[in-house]
Amino acid sequence: MQVKKAIIPAAGLGTRFLPATKAMPKEMLPIVDKPTIQYIVEEAIASGIEDIIIVTGKGKRSIEDHFDHAFELEATLREKGKMDMLDSVLQTSKVEIHYIRQKQPLGLGHAIWSARKFIGDEPFAVLLGDDIVQNDEPCLEQLMNQFEQTGNSVIGVQQVPSKETHRYGIIDPISVDGKLIAVDRFVEKPEAGTAPSNYAIMGRYILTPEIFDFLGEHTLGAGGEIQLTDAIQKLNEVQPVYAYEFDGHRFDVGEKYGFIETTIEFALQRPELRDQLLELFERKLQESYTNKK
Ligand code: UTP
Repeated sequence: MQVKKAIIPAAGLGTRFLPATKAMPKEMLPIVDKPTIQYIVEEAIASGIEDIIIVTGKGKRSIEDHFDHAFELEATLREKGKMDMLDSVLQTSKVEIHYIRQKQPLGLGHAIWSARKFIGDEPFAVLLGDDIVQNDEPCLEQLMNQFEQTGNSVIGVQQVPSKETHRYGIIDPISVDGKLIAVDRFVEKPEAGTAPSNYAIMGRYILTPEIFDFLGEHTLGAGGEIQLTDAIQKLNEVQPVYAYEFDGHRFDVGEKYGFIETTIEFALQRPELRDQLLELFERKLQESYTNKK
């Protein structure tokens, strides 16, 4: 069975970016000039996903507006002959997206569970906006290919330094066959020094619909939230759930330093910004060198 539907949860409080996220969704924070959630939607479409559902919550209206037509803006850009800008605006309104509200931010697992009626009885993808992955073959497509071969759930992972494992869901591998990994246990945010490996879950999942049986138990996990990782572990006890070490550069935009680093990296990829930025960095390095003397 092919994966055609994807859930993008976007109902979290975004506390790591307060006060910016008091009245604005963190998913709308731009990397250069594109909201983070648009990168995620583009990856889903490039991977062959046909139906996207975004789980929203209080204060998230601007996400729906972003993927809708903005008739006045479009007319003005057309009148002024600003066709490049018009194209970029039209690009975001072409996508067919559905929305559902998570009534309370009870955790990622609860957000996914809220979308169960939209998914029905078929395998589906989950993409989190905290990670942007750059690669010729989109990250999600790599996982979908693995799903087609195994017929089982596949979770995207990459290796992280040992001192960072407490920030992630971590897998305890049984055996590694190339990049595909059979998993004994999935552990959400293990305490420092207790992680069973360095393979961290990176916000891309292909899941079979049986996951909803476990999400429906509404068990509270790390941080008092209903955790997706805990439900994946329970699913793994009744059917195999694989991890896959995907190819690609992964950018962590869910916390401040990663967000700034990603902004700089993406800006450096823009020919119209690159030289000016490099000049700025050179000047700043020179200043810091002079101040140290
Ligand atoms: P995060 O924990 O990274 O997002 O959840 P957050 O809660 O918004 O951010 P902080 O930690 O307070 O800064 C991962 C993803 O799950 C969604 C978030 O929107 C994010 O995309 N999420 C989280 C929900 O949709 N609902 C929730 O109840 C919790």
